[in-house]
Amino acid sequence: GAPVEADIGALQVGEKMTVEWRGKPVWILKRSPAQVAELPKLDPLLADPQSKRNPDEFTPAYARNDHRSIKPEILVVVGICTHLGCSPVDRLQPGPQASLPDNWEGGFLCPCHGSTFDLAGRVFKNKPAPDNLPVPPHMYLSDTRLLIG
Ligand code: FES
Repeated sequence: GAPVEADIGALQVGEKMTVEWRGKPVWILKRSPAQVAELPKLDPLLADPQSKRNPDEFTPAYARNDHRSIKPEILVVVGICTHLGCSPVDRLQPGPQASLPDNWEGGFLCPCHGSTFDLAGRVFKNKPAPDNLPVPPHMYLSDTRLLIG
């Protein structure tokens, strides 16, 4: 499939947009600086906090960092659960929610078997999904234009 371009110039903090790439939904989420700062604190709760598992498949070299992204605030991931391929739903607001960790800062919840992912698409421990949400190959053409693929 051909690469796709996304204009993220209008994306606000806390907003997520979806573009289709190779028939898959690619999520582009703008996180707040506070949300980015919280990410390392979740490491003990995650199955693969440093995205070391199958890095070639799930996390390109330029996203192997604490925020799993090129720009700290912009997350780019494929929105398909790594368990059996369901579509996780947004849980972008912090606060107590049933079956989510106490210090939940927001993320994604797979409705099929309850896997939860943080705001970097990293899967929590002891969930059916084995891997973090994949970061697709991508690059910035300018400050606000992304090329995915
Ligand atoms: Fe997502 Fe099973 S498909 S938890």
